[in-house]
Amino acid sequence: MKFTRSILITGGAGFIGSHVVRLFVNKYPEYHIVNLDKLTYAGNLANLTDIEDKPNYTFVKADICDFGLMLDVFKKYEIDNVIHLAAESHVDRSIKDPFTFAQTNVMGTLSLLQAAKELWTAPYTSNRFYHISTDEVYGTLEFDNTFFTEDTKYDPHSPYSASKASSDHFVRAFYDTYGLPTIVTNCSNNYGPYQFPEKLIPLFINNIKHKRSLPVYGKGENVRDWLYVVDHARAIDVIFHKGKIADTYNIGGFNEWKNIDLIKVIIKTVDRLLGSPEGTSDTLITYITDRAGHDLRYAIDSNKLKDELGWEPSLQFEEGIEKTVQWYLDNGEWMDNITSGDYQEYYEKMYNK
Ligand code: NAD
Ligand code: DAU
Repeated sequence: MKFTRSILITGGAGFIGSHVVRLFVNKYPEYHIVNLDKLTYAGNLANLTDIEDKPNYTFVKADICDFGLMLDVFKKYEIDNVIHLAAESHVDRSIKDPFTFAQTNVMGTLSLLQAAKELWTAPYTSNRFYHISTDEVYGTLEFDNTFFTEDTKYDPHSPYSASKASSDHFVRAFYDTYGLPTIVTNCSNNYGPYQFPEKLIPLFINNIKHKRSLPVYGKGENVRDWLYVVDHARAIDVIFHKGKIADTYNIGGFNEWKNIDLIKVIIKTVDRLLGSPEGTSDTLITYITDRAGHDLRYAIDSNKLKDELGWEPSLQFEEGIEKTVQWYLDNGEWMDNITSGDYQEYYEKMYNK
């Protein structure tokens, strides 16, 4: 079959990337979807078993920092569009090892931009370089009624957000300097199936299940704005197809939760679904030393995306969290494989043989 587009999706074996790959592979059989992922600790091809045999899907194990290899991949698969999600994504890891974050998030993004610039031809009518970023680049808000808008000044505080901010600047610089057709989106906290269990929601669901302590940073008063991951993937679909070149869109759920209140909801839901009285697991809550540089509050104003492109979240939080907890309880094997590290050995053997 002759495909109408050949889209490179980076980081497609990770949490959000796997939902984006699934959506594009299923919805657009006329597109060739090339999922390029290094399979770091966070990449897991078990996230994609339902689509791995589809005729419009190809997986490539590669490091985005390898510029020569990126040129080869662009040429081999005639890549005409990029949706770039590959990144080191966990704030706590960035505090311990900032170099890896600068390398992957900044140099890796630059390597993809440069490959696109060398191989695509102006006026780039059929090309798009879509960079997925985070609301953390905007820094932190007070406990008031303000929101991050597309005009909020960048003010990153963690090595993770500093590396993402830097990558955003490179993406925009490639439009300003070379006219490369770029788009950037900044999204709030995602939750849902297939999230690596170092992040708050899957970590706490798994700990409650195993009656392990729930480490709450500081007083649990920090606020995050939670969006169901499938709604993020839907937004990426809309923006990829209809977004304006050189523009920025914020994506969020208008769904702010103080950490401790969210944790209480998770506890109640897990307890109920496991047949215990709601609140039984409150005793597992353990307040620990705060995260260094811990941003107080994130809240996204996504009205531009709603007004210009008609996107809105489809799921209420109560429904989303219920589905999410149920998914992790139903997929204990997925979780056990990750926490035991078996999945890495298995795929290492498969792809390095
Ligand atoms: P994740 O950590 O679950 O997945 C990242 C993926 O990138 C993994 O599959 C990993 O193997 C791959 N990867 C890492 N380094 C690579 C490299 N050098 N070359 C190729 N592949 C590499 O992350 P996620 O939570 O799915 O986030 C995806 C993107 O969305 C990131 O860019 C992140 O900054 C952004 N984002 C995440 C959230 C969130 O709440 N999780 C919110 C907003 C934006
Ligand atoms: O806002 C978007 C960002 O959301 C993404 O760009 C990041 O990739 C993603 O990891 C996420 O960052 P956070 O730092 O907000 O997510 P995390 O799940 O690590 O933490 C959520 C909140 O919970 C945060 O205030 C820290 C707190 N927390 C987290 C963990 C893992 C705890 O209190 N205890 C924990 O054990």
